[in-house]
Amino acid sequence: MLQFSVNEQRCSRCQLCAKDCPASIIDASGIPLICAEDEAKCYRCGHCLAICPTGSIAILGYNAEQSTPLAGNLPAAEQMETLIKGRRSVRHYLDANLPKQEIDDLLQVAWHAPTGHNTQKVHFTVIDDKGVLARFRDKVYDGLEERIQRDGLPVNRAFFADFVRVWREKNVDVLFRGAPHLVVASSPQVATTPAYDCFIALSYFELYAQTKGIGTVWNGLLTWAINELVPSLVHELGIPQEHQVGYAMVFGPAAVHYARTINRGPAKVAFYR
Ligand SMILES: Cc1cc2nc3c(=O)[nH]c(=O)nc-3n(C[C@H](O)[C@H](O)[C@H](O)COP(=O)(O)O)c2cc1C
Repeated sequence: MLQFSVNEQRCSRCQLCAKDCPASIIDASGIPLICAEDEAKCYRCGHCLAICPTGSIAILGYNAEQSTPLAGNLPAAEQMETLIKGRRSVRHYLDANLPKQEIDDLLQVAWHAPTGHNTQKVHFTVIDDKGVLARFRDKVYDGLEERIQRDGLPVNRAFFADFVRVWREKNVDVLFRGAPHLVVASSPQVATTPAYDCFIALSYFELYAQTKGIGTVWNGLLTWAINELVPSLVHELGIPQEHQVGYAMVFGPAAVHYARTINRGPAKVAFYR
């Protein structure tokens, strides 16, 4: 049930909801309505609620009063540019937990990232406590060591042996970089675009986190460890079996702060004309 409803007094009959509906299921010849037989075609994207100039539309249990107005309320383009260019992979963290509320806030915002066909199936598995992270880290290094002793490593992942060695001998943690928290984005294999959905969600997570002084780093090493070298880690983390693990990211209160953006030279661009 979509719970689509229109405040008839407020509706200006502008028909924008019908024009913007990607499924073209809103009949706006009078007060906008969605026929019962068309409900299943709804993308559940909320465009009708978002575009309505008078805030007349409610759908999926939400109304305009529960939304943030957009007019004059977006970050300036230069602020976005600075955020994107100033984002850095953070590899030094304070030995402290983030408040749980702050972690939840990051996840709730990242949840608004787009997904293929708006399936909204991305699943975040989170470690929100540094003690638990330390326990999980031990399981990862133990699992890698067992794997090395039992089967060895594929040639293209042989470097993991060095990571285990420097952790054991020098307490240098190349895999987690001393971060107190972890988020792994996964998605059911049957979702339209499971891997892409995870990457996009974590990209949003990262950018939003860095506006708050929270460091993040994409964790390809841990992703390989989970997906290729120690698959039991999927079960250990409680990630549903039918899920594809998209990517891992560690995060926490940053112990480094960058003073400026960097330059990468011009983008590689080709125009088809
Ligand atoms: C998909 C992906 C995987 C990555 N994996 C790791 C990783 O396992 N460990 C790490 O320290 N950095 C990792 N990084 C960070 C890159 O090394 C980093 O983006 C690059 O050095 C440029 O630095 P910057 O992110 O600060 O611009 C990864 C980045 C991406 C996009």
